[in-house]
Amino acid sequence: MHVRTLRTYNFRNLKDVDAGFSPGVNVLYGDNAQGKTSVLEAIWMFTGLKSFRTKNIADAYAFSSGKNECRCDVEFETADGTDRAAMVSEDSRRTFYFNGAEYSPAEALGRFNAVIFTPNTYDVINGAPERRRNYLDSLLCQYESNYGAQLAVYSRALRQRNAGLKNCSTAEEFSRLRDAWDPHLVRCGNIIMEARERLVKELSEMVAEFYGELGADEVCSVEYEPKTSGEALDAALEKNAERDLLTKTTNAGPHRDDIDIRLNGRSLKTFGSQGQRKTCALALKLAEAGVGADRRGESPVIMLDDFVGELDAGRRKFVIGACSAGQLFITCCERIPELSGAAEYVVADGTVSRQE
Ligand SMILES: Nc1ncnc2c1ncn2[C@@H]1O[C@H](COP(=O)(O)OP(=O)(O)OP(=O)(O)O)[C@@H](O)[C@H]1O
Ligand SMILES: [Mg+2]
Repeated sequence: MHVRTLRTYNFRNLKDVDAGFSPGVNVLYGDNAQGKTSVLEAIWMFTGLKSFRTKNIADAYAFSSGKNECRCDVEFETADGTDRAAMVSEDSRRTFYFNGAEYSPAEALGRFNAVIFTPNTYDVINGAPERRRNYLDSLLCQYESNYGAQLAVYSRALRQRNAGLKNCSTAEEFSRLRDAWDPHLVRCGNIIMEARERLVKELSEMVAEFYGELGADEVCSVEYEPKTSGEALDAALEKNAERDLLTKTTNAGPHRDDIDIRLNGRSLKTFGSQGQRKTCALALKLAEAGVGADRRGESPVIMLDDFVGELDAGRRKFVIGACSAGQLFITCCERIPELSGAAEYVVADGTVSRQE
């Protein structure tokens, strides 16, 4: 899969970009604050259906224009042909179009697959469990067609159950609440947990491989840690019923899941050095691309933002080689020798110019 063209309108500091890209390696050079990450953000919008930098699309409307709108268009190639996608935003709403027809977010997800590595990738390792759950969910929404719908039903049932719990004072009241919502939680929760477990297993195998190939000695693994601790979800809900009534919240279920990234069996977030975290974050992203390629049958687009500052020359070379099956975007401030032969672009004051 690769991006052929990108056009933007009123997006961040970009001066209505209209650029064509190579199906191989694309390097975006430029000083700080020129618009490099904004270019990647505009492309990634079609994967996550939102920015990887903000929850509020209005943050991306160009400051100086005073207009409450923006638009990004990409033309991309898949094994099935060429697709045109557009994201049109007005007054904080987003609408997605594929080949001219409007698509709901659920229909739009999974059509364009990209992997983004940014300094924020470390949050998956260092951040709160919610960040890791979101990470798994965003991948599963891309690669499993029914997952997003199950997640939506589960989340709604959980919200209703928790809201009802606030007003429950007796076991009888809670029992009625459980009769209404627990069947939804169990049905969708089991699907969510099974999908997460499968994905983590696939990721773990690939992370171990890439981590080793990045020259590290330790064995890296990713473990799925469901909050139900091995029990069936209905049994875990039953077991936690008294506690739920006391704490006024639902204590068991996939909304409390976590994953643990380990080196030689020890938790990276507790014991890992900076270098080990960086290498793991990179291995995780390469694994994500590998899982995407296996599931979809073609490589996702890989985008490495601020990548040079993070790695020595040997590792840079390995990463570029590992990504060579698909299209790669790299942003950096200085030219780097390993990238000679790539399509080069200079990003300056919101403009993107191809260098011959
Ligand atoms: N909504 C917006 N409208 C206009 N400019 C914006 C908007 N949001 C951010 N900017 C500015 O756009 C500029 C480019 O940001 P961007 O993150 O794309 O730069 P960059 O080239 O990736 O820089 P760095 O090398 O520092 O990461 C910055 O000056 C930023 O403050
Ligand atoms: Mg940047």
